[in-house]
Amino acid sequence: MNPATPDTPPLTTRLLHAGDRPAIEHFFLAEMDDVSLYWRFFRTMTPMTVNAYVAQMRFDSGCLAYGAFFGERLVGVAEISAIPGSESCTENRPGALSCGELGIAVSNQLHHKGIGRQLLSRLLDDAWTRGLKRIQLSSLRDNRPMLALATRLGFKALREESGEVIMQALRPADWPQVVPRRMKQAAAHATEREINCSAKIVNARCR
Ligand SMILES: CC(C)(COP(=O)(O)OP(=O)(O)OC[C@H]1O[C@@H](n2cnc3c(N)ncnc32)[C@H](O)[C@@H]1OP(=O)(O)O)[C@@H](O)C(=O)NCCC(=O)NCCS
Repeated sequence: MNPATPDTPPLTTRLLHAGDRPAIEHFFLAEMDDVSLYWRFFRTMTPMTVNAYVAQMRFDSGCLAYGAFFGERLVGVAEISAIPGSESCTENRPGALSCGELGIAVSNQLHHKGIGRQLLSRLLDDAWTRGLKRIQLSSLRDNRPMLALATRLGFKALREESGEVIMQALRPADWPQVVPRRMKQAAAHATEREINCSAKIVNARCR
């Protein structure tokens, strides 16, 4: 569903990059209220902590970020970042993010209009195509919109810990993957390794 009216431009989604940092910071501070920020980050956020969070976003193979826009206005941000402390995810090495943690937020005034779904769907499509195999998220148990959105897009609950629901989605087995040539060559010499992402989820951070 596109919530645009005849007066608003259509919703578009695109990859975010380092040059979008001011817009992302403005989005978190101007488009979200304190409660939504808490649901997104699991802690009270201030302009200073938002600034620090956005400053450390990497926009490279360790983090995949998409934005939803009405014209120039950023109205949603969805990110997949390396799971903190995920050494146990054997393929999470530079240039080959394989397991990631999801974080998503949509402008407060625009909730329940299909933006989250469109944005997350686009992000997942790209993530699977880039070769990610497993995406995890944590949501507060009372965050019904997030649980509904994740379930709708194929996430399954793994467990509950301290009021948080941990969910995961696996890349569809038949998803066409674009494999860079150098990875194909390496794969020809490597034995199959099992992915094991058992790291405890703290929160989505791009490190
Ligand atoms: C979670 C969030 C991103 C959803 O974005 P959204 O644009 O409102 O979601 P959508 O409109 O695309 O709805 C997606 C699904 O969730 C459901 N949903 C949305 N809002 C809902 C609500 N208030 N109650 C119940 N279900 C809801 C919709 O029914 C829809 O399901 P459907 O496709 O079966 O109809 C948004 O509420 C948000 O930014 N919350 C604050 C940040 C946050 O909680 N992040 C999650 C932790 S990372």
